[in-house]
Amino acid sequence: MPPLQLLLILLPLSASFLRLPAPAGAACSPKTCGDLNITYPFWLEEGGGRPPCGSPSFQLNCNGRHAFLSRSMFGRYQVARVFPENNSLVAVNHNLLVPPRAGCPPWWFNISLGLGLGPYTINRKNREVLVLYNCTEPQQVAPPGFNRTRCADGSFFRLGGEYGSHRELGVVPSACSLSVVPVLGFPDGDDDYVQSMRQGFLLEWTVPSDDCPECEASGGQCRYAGDGTGFSCGCAGVAHREKCGELTKIN
Ligand SMILES: *[C@@H]1O[C@H](CO)[C@@H](O)[C@H](O)[C@H]1NC(C)=O
Ligand SMILES: *[C@@H]1O[C@H](CO)[C@@H](O)[C@H](O)[C@H]1NC(C)=O
Ligand SMILES: *[C@@H]1O[C@H](CO)[C@@H](O)[C@H](O)[C@H]1NC(C)=O
Ligand SMILES: *[C@@H]1O[C@H](CO)[C@@H](O)[C@H](O)[C@H]1NC(C)=O
Ligand SMILES: *[C@@H]1O[C@H](CO)[C@@H](O)[C@H](O)[C@H]1NC(C)=O
Repeated sequence: MPPLQLLLILLPLSASFLRLPAPAGAACSPKTCGDLNITYPFWLEEGGGRPPCGSPSFQLNCNGRHAFLSRSMFGRYQVARVFPENNSLVAVNHNLLVPPRAGCPPWWFNISLGLGLGPYTINRKNREVLVLYNCTEPQQVAPPGFNRTRCADGSFFRLGGEYGSHRELGVVPSACSLSVVPVLGFPDGDDDYVQSMRQGFLLEWTVPSDDCPECEASGGQCRYAGDGTGFSCGCAGVAHREKCGELTKIN
């Protein structure tokens, strides 16, 4: 076969791995924020109208020390630790910790609302802090099992069990609204729920692509594709569709 014809046959195959444009590759490569390593599917937003490097749900903003989920309520959900091996992270909701009244936010809400309809779920390994607020008639005594918070809003709190277990308790007085705050746990001998909120809670995410484990097993680095969506596997500067060392199919 003449060399030119051979080349034309091989050309569609070689199109299955694309050379990353150098600037995009550099801007979207793994980064750090404080002592957090930011790797796929998370990505760090950049100023100066840079194009997105990935899915908005995993967009992070770094204030120099801490990384925050850009699309969380007021951008105040900090990503404190990431466990890529099991798609989970520890998040700290700083909306609840605004000085000088940490633990007494301007209003209470359910944490899940602050995450929108993202790919995140609150893990059942969490425990829960229950907060009663907005009681229609001022409660003279704390409802059974609850203690008064130190907040000026007449709210009450209770350290609960497994996250979600309050539904079986049926303990919520109808005169009050309930806010449910997941926490990793309660420090021993410490009844202060604020300390628990500072430690954060466990969140799981569903992966944008199933291809990452295979890519990493082949020695590659999981990335979004060049336009910030989809998946690519970075292998020594070359982006493959799925994994290194193979000419993979184009969908
Ligand atoms: C971040 O990555 C560097 C380089 O791979 C590694 O030495 C360090 O231990 C990592 N830090 C964390 C918190 O995983
Ligand atoms: C993921 O692994 C970390 C570290 O072993 C662990 O602390 C965390 O609870 C795990 N996450 C889930 C969802 O099981
Ligand atoms: C407070 O209570 C009022 C009346 O019961 C209710 O309409 C309102 O939605 C509650 N506010 C919040 C933030 O739960
Ligand atoms: C918070 O969630 C609980 C159930 O998990 C629900 O009973 C309560 O009404 C919710 N509160 C608000 C303000 O949405
Ligand atoms: C609630 O108050 C009681 C009585 O003061 C105290 O013994 C208990 O430890 C408190 N519980 C919490 C969770 O703060």
